[in-house]
Amino acid sequence: MSTGESVSINEKKIDGYIKKLGIEKAVNINVSKIRGELKTKYIGHKIYAFQEVDSTNIIAKFLAGVGVEEGTIVIARSQIKGKGRRGKKWESPLGGIWLSIIVHPEISPQQASLITLGAGVAVTKAIRKLGVDARIKWPNDILIGDKKISGILTEANSKFHTLDYIVVGIGIDSNLDLNSISKKTKIRATTLKDELKRNIDERILIKNLLEEFENIYEHFKNEDFEEILYEWRSLSQTIGSYVVIEQPFGKILKGYVVGINNQGSLILELDNGELKKVISGESHITEISKI
Ligand code: BTN
Repeated sequence: MSTGESVSINEKKIDGYIKKLGIEKAVNINVSKIRGELKTKYIGHKIYAFQEVDSTNIIAKFLAGVGVEEGTIVIARSQIKGKGRRGKKWESPLGGIWLSIIVHPEISPQQASLITLGAGVAVTKAIRKLGVDARIKWPNDILIGDKKISGILTEANSKFHTLDYIVVGIGIDSNLDLNSISKKTKIRATTLKDELKRNIDERILIKNLLEEFENIYEHFKNEDFEEILYEWRSLSQTIGSYVVIEQPFGKILKGYVVGINNQGSLILELDNGELKKVISGESHITEISKI
């Protein structure tokens, strides 16, 4: 089958899927302007922008499954069923940046998790360009001070032990009104609008983010994980802090974070001096190091 035919089959499938979902194209996201200003080789060259969707990650996974081009983006002005990590809901009203990036790296599924740390680096660097001191809390919450400004949900699919695609879902509380989210979320969150005391230009932030992401993704594809880990460490708020880690099945670990290893696992010095490797969990910083 020629490429031309496969492209048109894909487009038909995609059109059918979008029609079935009954979602509308975004009117307030100027896709051609974003694309025109982008200095990337492939990330963001194809953008699907919608008014309101259940979750950009769900749509991105469908598009990834039919083989859309590397770096395709799905963005929405709001999400009804935004997905957070560990099965949590992600509140996504109007005023935030909710987007998913689709990539198909030729890399082993075991190494895929490092893209999550890489995405954290890209988001943090893009936000810092606006002049705020954003930092990363392990594994990939982006904070300003002790308040969350952004979260990342990476979903990967493998076929026959080979990685098929990765969808990197990124949510940033940019111009959101904190009164439009629940009280429970609001106490732990901040927005760029609140930090900078002005509405930010979301187009600039999206451009910065996609360019930073492509830089870091190039390292990832070339298996240059050292560079990703180096940048992650330098932007981390977790290293050198005393943390409480909530692990799956309710297990709690406490200790000082001495670093992360080359697989992105946290190295914790427990109260009894034992060094413990933590692969997954949710960290809560209780004391920020002065070092
Ligand atoms: C977290 O729990 O911190 C991760 C939140 C990830 C939210 C983003 S918003 C865009 C993408 N679509 C989703 O449904 N979730 C991610």
